[in-house]
Amino acid sequence: MSDGEMDGLEVVACEHCPELVDHRGRIVNGTGPADADLLFVGEAPGQSEDEQGEPFVGRSGDVLDDGLRDAGLDRGDVRITNCVRCHPPDNRDPTDDELSNCRGYLETEIDRVDPAVVVTLGKVPAEHLLERDVAVTSEAGDVAEVEIGGERRRVLVCVHPAATLYDPSQRETFASTLERAADFTDESSGQSRIGDF
Ligand code: URA
Repeated sequence: MSDGEMDGLEVVACEHCPELVDHRGRIVNGTGPADADLLFVGEAPGQSEDEQGEPFVGRSGDVLDDGLRDAGLDRGDVRITNCVRCHPPDNRDPTDDELSNCRGYLETEIDRVDPAVVVTLGKVPAEHLLERDVAVTSEAGDVAEVEIGGERRRVLVCVHPAATLYDPSQRETFASTLERAADFTDESSGQSRIGDF
């Protein structure tokens, strides 16, 4: 897909997915610095995100904000986006077609931000970017290197923030994965605590 409907990092118009176009309140673009070290990728906007026009501003967003803070990170210093930029009806998962229609926008965003690591939040973005089945609970905290949009990228698998609400045993995994993510910001500023992975 061309990025003809993007202005910088923002999709300003898109009509590719008829059901999403009918249902959405707005297109929800990524937020955060255009040169962030960390790029978090969720699945798709929920109802609150659709209303407010920002990713992760509902309950999952509160969990993410708290987790970032506990890991010494600030939401304002990281970039946060989604695989799909329109809210799917009834919070259903995005279809393969919808993921594929939005893929070019995500690749463009990853390319332009050029983060030290892409952190996937939940199963859908992990499987979308790693292009294989992912057992998120057991793979959380692992870093893989994959090609995205023609470039080798590091992808850090993380559980979805909402998973910690349904299953408190995921909290520690979520926290330690965000600590691992924070290591990449140190790495970018030349104080790496990470060796080869
Ligand atoms: N869940 C997601 O995957 N993305 C959001 O933006 C909000 C909740």
